[in-house]
Amino acid sequence: MAAPPATTCRRRRTPPLAALPPAPAAALLRLALLAAAVLCTTGASAAAGAQQLDVGYYSKACPAAEEIVRNETAAALRDSPDLAAALLRLHYHDCFVQGCDASVLLDSTPNNTAEKDAMPNGSLRGFDLVARVKDQLETACPATVSCADVLALMARDAVALSRGPSWPVALGRRDGRTSSAASCGELPPLRGDVNLLVQAFAAKGLDVKDLVVLSGAHTLGKAHCASYADRLYPSAGCSTADPALDARYADRLRMRCTMADGSSNGTSELDPGSCVTFDTSYYRHVARRRGLLRSDAYLLDHRFTRAYVLQAASGRYDGHFFHDFAVSMDKMASIGVLTGDQGEIRTKCNVVN
Ligand code: HEM
Repeated sequence: MAAPPATTCRRRRTPPLAALPPAPAAALLRLALLAAAVLCTTGASAAAGAQQLDVGYYSKACPAAEEIVRNETAAALRDSPDLAAALLRLHYHDCFVQGCDASVLLDSTPNNTAEKDAMPNGSLRGFDLVARVKDQLETACPATVSCADVLALMARDAVALSRGPSWPVALGRRDGRTSSAASCGELPPLRGDVNLLVQAFAAKGLDVKDLVVLSGAHTLGKAHCASYADRLYPSAGCSTADPALDARYADRLRMRCTMADGSSNGTSELDPGSCVTFDTSYYRHVARRRGLLRSDAYLLDHRFTRAYVLQAASGRYDGHFFHDFAVSMDKMASIGVLTGDQGEIRTKCNVVN
């Protein structure tokens, strides 16, 4: 989320339900074909002349790479299933700011405040786990597997291990050498309206379908009170709580989020009752005006995103959502990647070599 613009209390008009484009007839078959599509589509956003990403990138240099990542991730999630959410969010925050180059993992230095210390990244988690996985990879294949690829693989495995879809991840990203807190304005805004979200995604080469599909990541994880308190209490410029939030649900949320300024420590599940399982119940909450964040609620304000939410909420299109999520994750994972001789392969993910 970027610096929040002023909140408005305008009651939204409900747009008419639009028919979605026909859903793919053979979602599972298309998921299998994603492997081929990956090879054609990734790298499109890389600099001209750079190499493309490749599903088999480490097959010779580090054949055990994917297995190491998966085993370590699985072991960690067995103890703490909620880490899946953290890993998925880390990859998203990496890709939207300066491309998928692991810049989100770099520490600040005396002369530079890095992304991880910027306001929207204050609640990112999972850094230690990523470091542990990277250490294992360094032991098996020194200076070979980039931190940016580790993030992409761990996000995929986190989703799959939470009973979501799996997909082939094209690899070969290299790590950036810079990270700046100031760049975090590239993250989509939490407050504003749906058009600002659409624009923020478009700026990264992602379309409105990617927006509603990737928002489905909020089937995992929790949000801190500070992220939604302004929906529960009258605030500056706002004489009521957010009318887009179901009133009874708001009552329940106020019991966890007791301070109007968001300073209480409470967290709430983004997908209540199912926040460690990757499924479509997030969309059922959004459809009932129980999306926790403003950005979740905004999905009902746009013809296409509203239609997608209602379709996914029906529970009859879980396979379609899984397929769509894999496709959109693949697109997100190729934003602004460094390849070839760009960047470096960091030895430690939190510092440049
Ligand atoms: C559409 C724009 C988005 C906005 C404005 C947004 C904003 C947020 C906010 C404010 C939180 C709660 C942070 C906290 O209070 O600790 C959050 C959590 C989360 N977000 Fe998003 N998000 C967006 C899209 C995405 C996307 C595209 C993904 C992944 C593909 C994602 C994955 C997650 C996950 C998994 C969590 C839970 C994290 C945890 O439990 O540690 N979000 N998001």
